[in-house]
Amino acid sequence: MSSAAAWLADRTHLFESSGIRKVFDLGATLPNPINLSIGQPDFDVPQIGREAACEAIESRKNGYALTQGMPVLRNKLGKMIEQNYARDVLSNDSRHSLLITSGTSGGLLLALQCLVNPGDEVILFDPFFVMYDSLVKMIGGTSVVVDTQDSQFQVDLNKLEAAITSKTKAIILNSPANPTGVICDEETVKAIAELAARKNVCLISDEIYKVFCFDAPFVSAAKYNPDVLVLDGFSKSHGMPGWRVGYAHGPKAIIEQMTKFQQYTFVCAPHPFQLAAAAALDADIKPVIDAYRHKRDLIYDGLSDLYELVKPSGAFYAFPKVPWGTADEFVEYGIKNYELLVIPGNIFSRHNTNFRISYAASDTMIERGVEVMRKMAKR
Ligand SMILES: Cc1ncc(COP(=O)(O)O)c(C=O)c1O
Repeated sequence: MSSAAAWLADRTHLFESSGIRKVFDLGATLPNPINLSIGQPDFDVPQIGREAACEAIESRKNGYALTQGMPVLRNKLGKMIEQNYARDVLSNDSRHSLLITSGTSGGLLLALQCLVNPGDEVILFDPFFVMYDSLVKMIGGTSVVVDTQDSQFQVDLNKLEAAITSKTKAIILNSPANPTGVICDEETVKAIAELAARKNVCLISDEIYKVFCFDAPFVSAAKYNPDVLVLDGFSKSHGMPGWRVGYAHGPKAIIEQMTKFQQYTFVCAPHPFQLAAAAALDADIKPVIDAYRHKRDLIYDGLSDLYELVKPSGAFYAFPKVPWGTADEFVEYGIKNYELLVIPGNIFSRHNTNFRISYAASDTMIERGVEVMRKMAKR
């Protein structure tokens, strides 16, 4: 027998492979699943972006890109960031800087590598995006979880302040949030940003869903704290999760180190897709956001009389409470009896009481899902 398994480093045993991928794989084996499991837009890259990708590939832009990102994308993002964040990320003498990353996930890994020493603590809000906890463990840090379940998934500032210790290095805020679809209200965003500054802790703001705000404009924590490290990307906003283009902007001292670490890890974000992302920024995505608001309404109006459900105002998720059993039991029942694929909440949470619906799906799929979930609630 091979001894390969014995060669594995201890850190490989710190976390399981993503439970979401397991449901995704299961979905591939079912003939006609109602798939509301995966956080991937159901729309494609805008045409202008697809054409730019083909053009980039055909014109042989297939070599390595600059580690910090290609100028055409950096310049466009730089202008947008200047306008929306009042941050100059392009001038050499500015306190802020910009890095094009290999997806938002690439930015997250680099940020944690550059900020967190072994034994340092990183505060996450429960429920959290699956990758946060695993990445913190991967780099030898400790996740400290602040629960938001009893406060309608809004951050309780007293709980947050109580969780900050001398070992706290970073807080990760994700608004609009995966898996709840909840947007942190502006007063709380401001208070978290100010608390991070007062406690000398880095606030990482994962803004990958910022264009999916259905009821009010997006507000970044960076508005209230110039040292906030913002992570963002094109996977969700422009339907290009397979193209792996993201970006990070924030304090120059951090971005410079992330750039150095990118040189020795990802090397660069994919070259042709950076050019395509730059072109895609010119597309009008408002029709998509309007369509997603409608999808949100289909889910909320279809389920809120039978399920305890905080109304999502952003992203493309809803996180209802199961009406019976545990989240695992409920999800398993849905798969076996209705080919319904949703994700049990314990993947994102220390609780096993809720489940995540991704409504990044066709309206017909959502309607089928609502019908089935109404039956399941009355079981
Ligand atoms: C909150 C959050 N952050 C980051 C990511 C990673 O996105 P990317 O495809 O840009 O790596 C996701 C993807 O699901 C997400 O939900």
